[in-house]
Amino acid sequence: MASVKEKTLWFCTSCGNESPKWMGRCPACGEWNTMVEQTKVTGKSSRQVQSSLQGPSSDPIPLSAVNSTEEHRISLCNGELDRILGGGMVEGSLVLIGGEPGIGKSTLSLQIPLSCPALKTLYVTGEESVKQVKMRASRLGGNDSGCLIYSETLMENILEQADRIRPDLMVVDSVQTMFSRNVESSPGSVTQIRETAALLLRFCKQTGIPVILIGHITKEGSIAGPKILEHIVDVVLQFEGDNRGSYRLLRSIKNRFGSTSELAVFEMTGKGLREVSNPSEMLIPMHEEGLSGVAVSAMLDGTRPFLIEVQALVSSAAYGTPQRSATGFDVRRLNMLLAVLEKRAGFKLSVKDVFLNMAGGLKVNDPACDMAVICAVLSSNFDFAIPSDVCFAAEVGLSGEIRPVGQTERRVMEAARLGFRKIYVSSFASCDNIPEGIDVVRVADVPALCRSLFKTGK
Ligand code: TYD
Ligand code: MG
Repeated sequence: MASVKEKTLWFCTSCGNESPKWMGRCPACGEWNTMVEQTKVTGKSSRQVQSSLQGPSSDPIPLSAVNSTEEHRISLCNGELDRILGGGMVEGSLVLIGGEPGIGKSTLSLQIPLSCPALKTLYVTGEESVKQVKMRASRLGGNDSGCLIYSETLMENILEQADRIRPDLMVVDSVQTMFSRNVESSPGSVTQIRETAALLLRFCKQTGIPVILIGHITKEGSIAGPKILEHIVDVVLQFEGDNRGSYRLLRSIKNRFGSTSELAVFEMTGKGLREVSNPSEMLIPMHEEGLSGVAVSAMLDGTRPFLIEVQALVSSAAYGTPQRSATGFDVRRLNMLLAVLEKRAGFKLSVKDVFLNMAGGLKVNDPACDMAVICAVLSSNFDFAIPSDVCFAAEVGLSGEIRPVGQTERRVMEAARLGFRKIYVSSFASCDNIPEGIDVVRVADVPALCRSLFKTGK
């Protein structure tokens, strides 16, 4: 190995770009402070590194000659997971499940073989011992007869075993603990992560065995994290949610075999992650009597409509500058909505502290929540409860106009299905099929909304 040389290089943890010197800003992706120092081995082994990204060489062929049979999908015996993958996992696909430590990635991937004993699964763990996995499996319950467990971190051994066993599914937990002999840097470094993913991708494509790869990301973004893997893998699923609360959202960010912006909801229980097939029911606790400061919004996340409770607390500011705080909602947007209320509807909120919270630890960025936000704020301000069978779905513009949002009809349907009797939408919303039992109230601007709801305003 006389030709092998070591060189210090800088890598961007966001896009994987390499540079001979440190830079504050990555010239490739424009991110700040993402460059990390790493040794790169050049010479014989670096040629091997590059070769694992390339598959076996083949000649170009006409596209028309390519056989386009529907890809074969396997069910993971988990309705929510199958749905966000686009109807099961495609054979030979590499799926990355990313998320903060402790959010439930290992739990979810261990639940797959336990609920589908017919699926021969090879569960490779680099983080936990075989005993620890067994303890977790006993806690989760289910049938572990189809699951092979392998505690290993060297990629060459893993691929050799996988090739011998030929499982129906392989789980690799986690990419940060794996390493390959091809690269001489430590596990978790940018080069090792890229190499591990490239080796697995090649294995998937050659054998047709689907692989679930787990990757940690930190709150700050990622240190050599899954961001750089997003280009390599076929599907990226990301866990979100507050790991103190019990709800977990799994979002599809990239999917070469289905639609993105799909969302699956789970609840962490004492026996693992439970599928929540009707998220609206969990996000709106049924209060007997309406409470002040609460308004329900019919929002859409991805393609799924669901209803969420928006909570606000408005109180007199104790100090000169009032506080504005929002959990799960953009605080700048809250400030804008408060300014609209002040300027266009004459409510004096500039001397009040305003706190806003989206129930269930959800992060909301659907503009259709605007109307529920202003209604929750006004409801708390007047201490006037909005009836619990009323909900809202519209955007609020800077001049106080109530703007229509996409797919109003689906939102109305979902609200009607959950027993809401009245929904406020924009005057301009297109909604022709109104289901029975729900009253659709159309309002043009904020003053009209206040007159209709609180019988007050300018
Ligand atoms: P884990 O799946 O190990 O997270 P990750 O692999 O993403 O780091 O663990 C998730 C957390 O969930 C852990 O702190 C313990 C908790 N948990 C439960 O509440 N119930 C359970 O049945 C299991 C297995 C874990
Ligand atoms: Mg884990």
